[in-house]
Amino acid sequence: MSATATKDGGSVTITLNGTNKSLTIPLIDGTIGPSVFDIRKLYNELGVFTYDPGYGGTAACESKITYIDGDVGVLLHRGYPIEQLAEKSSFLEVSYLLLNGELPDKAQKAEFERGVMMHTMLHEQLRRFYDGFRRDAHPMAVMCGVVGAMSAFYHDSLDINDPDHRRISAFRLIAKMPTIAAWAYKYSIGQPFMYPRNDLSYAENFLYMMNAVPAEDYKVSPVLARAMDRIFILHADHEQNASTSTVRLSGSTGANPFACIAAGIASLWGPAHGGANEAVLKMLAEIGHKDNIPAFLAGVKDKNGHNRLMGFGHRVYKNYDPRAKIMQASCHEVLKELGHQDDPLLELAMELEKIALHDEYFVSRKLYPNVDFYSGIILKAMGFPTSMFTVLFAVARTVGWISQWKEMIEDPSQRIGRPRQVYTGATQRDYIALDKRA
Ligand code: ACO
Repeated sequence: MSATATKDGGSVTITLNGTNKSLTIPLIDGTIGPSVFDIRKLYNELGVFTYDPGYGGTAACESKITYIDGDVGVLLHRGYPIEQLAEKSSFLEVSYLLLNGELPDKAQKAEFERGVMMHTMLHEQLRRFYDGFRRDAHPMAVMCGVVGAMSAFYHDSLDINDPDHRRISAFRLIAKMPTIAAWAYKYSIGQPFMYPRNDLSYAENFLYMMNAVPAEDYKVSPVLARAMDRIFILHADHEQNASTSTVRLSGSTGANPFACIAAGIASLWGPAHGGANEAVLKMLAEIGHKDNIPAFLAGVKDKNGHNRLMGFGHRVYKNYDPRAKIMQASCHEVLKELGHQDDPLLELAMELEKIALHDEYFVSRKLYPNVDFYSGIILKAMGFPTSMFTVLFAVARTVGWISQWKEMIEDPSQRIGRPRQVYTGATQRDYIALDKRA
């Protein structure tokens, strides 16, 4: 089969050669960013699909939440640049913005913060779920399990068609995620669970539940709380990445939000997505010293090798990830607060970055540091074990997932997500009895 495409003003007309079938495919413009061809009628009119493994050239939805220009390294939430939000806002304010589309006024901000913080406790029976896990379970496994189990506890907010239920589920997820995460950690080290404290800020409360013990007073460092809050802001949303698309795809079937977020957590777990900062630390440990950087990079560039420069490259950013710049600055602040200015890992990372940014292999492929390149170093310095890194990402990304889920449910054009395929397997054939098979 072959086809001819002719340009027709903004649109394109495709004619299937040898048939009388043709279709004019209109272009839809966004407010910024590339326009898209609307191919919804393609199969019905021409009987063909498009082929796009990994969806690199496919817009699966319309969204007003987050905009990324990967070529120049721009990230906007509801139009506001990430640099301004990281410097001037707070995680809960950014959460309000992502969910509602506008920055809150004073009263809205106070009401939202109270609304979220009122939901920080877990149903007491959920505590017992932890006992079912081995102590050495990966905390992401605990997160998938406990978050999925939330659908069995909060029946009064499961009607996805009721806006109040959607709002309460969003509050519950944002509020309880730090508690679930901190308890996963406490369980793994055998310490008592710390109940949330609603007089603290979102980030302070998380650090308190992670680090405090009932036997002693614990004071949260304002510098570390601010750094934690900024890390949460930097990870809050990132448009249609793998985990967000997983949440949308799960939600498109009408599944409840807790189940959808559990699916998002599973998707985030992979090393190519949320697990990369853990991988960066492993890589830095493997390199060990800056004298070993050239040999390591030679291995990365070797076509027959399996190593990648972790924390480098991004499906969308073909320039410096704006979050990586903020993370690098934050890294210096945190290490200074902790008295680790001369952290050898940071020095090694900066040297590695400098060399890679001048190396033809990385330059020609537009491979720049992504958000994960420095986040692992900060989190390690703050005392988080590497197994908790992706968990922190999940805590922060929950608001992005739930905002995207809510937008999808409220979109009248929403349908069940159902990608198609180009089938290249066997054509129809008859069953062969077992004794006749060669
Ligand atoms: N190190 C070495 N080479 C790389 C890297 C890397 N980190 N990333 C991409 N390349 C190379 C590929 O080998 C390929 O080279 P080739 O054209 O010679 O075959 C070329 O660059 C294009 O690579 P793709 O895999 O097609 O790029 P893609 O956009 O699919 O990959 C990804 C993006 C998965 C993030 C990749 O860059 C990667 O694996 N990076 C390391 C892991 C990482 O840091 N992930 C975090 C992402 S950010 C986040 O999730 C928060």
